[in-house]
Amino acid sequence: MSSSQSPKLKYVSLGVLVVQTTSLVLTMRYSRTLKEDGPRYLASSAVVSAEVLKIFTCILLVLRDHNFSVRMLSQILKEEIANKAMETMKLSIPAGIYTLQNNLLYIALSNLDAATYQVTYQLKILTTALFSVSMLEKKLGLYQWLSLLVLMAGVALVQWPTESVNGPQQRPLSAGSQFVGVMAVLIACISSGFAGVYFEKILKQTKQSVWLRNIQLGLFGFVFGLMGMFAYDGERVREFGMFQGYNGVTCTVVILQAVGGLVIAAAIKYADNILKGFATSLSIILSTLISYYWLEDFEPTSVFFLGAVLVIAATFLYGYEHKAAPSVIKV
Ligand code: C5P
Repeated sequence: MSSSQSPKLKYVSLGVLVVQTTSLVLTMRYSRTLKEDGPRYLASSAVVSAEVLKIFTCILLVLRDHNFSVRMLSQILKEEIANKAMETMKLSIPAGIYTLQNNLLYIALSNLDAATYQVTYQLKILTTALFSVSMLEKKLGLYQWLSLLVLMAGVALVQWPTESVNGPQQRPLSAGSQFVGVMAVLIACISSGFAGVYFEKILKQTKQSVWLRNIQLGLFGFVFGLMGMFAYDGERVREFGMFQGYNGVTCTVVILQAVGGLVIAAAIKYADNILKGFATSLSIILSTLISYYWLEDFEPTSVFFLGAVLVIAATFLYGYEHKAAPSVIKV
């Protein structure tokens, strides 16, 4: 099913993505305001837990698509996953890249302040557009390119650090660690663009359902995630277990991350990676505003409002040319 055949699913998936990303950002911000006692949870273990949850949810969704017939489910899993090993192996590419990306982002976050990290990571909007054009032969008009530049600038301004932030302890960062952090984000931008568009190509070229594709992706994500967990935190896992430091907020973050993977997959299938970029940009504004009213950990400045206006203007500019001359995807 192409996105033009399902405009309703396209907007529903993008809308749910806005809500999901906003909740994830808010929960993460909230978890930072909590005082931690006892051991901290292992980020590498949270990645594995989210993959397992994603696989189980997708299995349930495939089961629902086949009237809850377990016999049909096992037949489909056998035919589509076990018997089509080469097809399944294709998903190891985005899965491997996403695992690398998730780890690069943890490296970036521990070497950069959150604002620089988030602002630099917006370059992925451009890398995604470049990969969409080169790998999917997507055609973007002049105004659409312009709107992507405006979007990038807008998100960067929205996330610009404010002097008055009474945020968590800011520690001074050395030039060396800044460099490591920025390199990690830049590589993550390239991997984000490539993996997203590669997954989009697989989803739109083949008939398999998005949930089945996500099970394949999740299986590799799980294996790579386990390898990462034992490589980084093997010692600690053996000593205190995989679930050390888990609390209610950790579980909420894991659930939101798993749901996030599913919503992102649906948005890539029914809309595309570029529109997904617009949805997440809008959710950054939404979560910041909610955070201002509820958590009171942020004070909007004129820079924030200028950024928000640019993001919204970019969204309209992109949609305007989209209507005037719909872009063609040949896959
Ligand atoms: O920053 P970016 O948009 O590239 O992040 C995508 C995230 O979504 C990655 O963390 C990846 O693990 C996740 N994802 C997923 N399932 C998909 C596609 C992406 O979990 N089908």
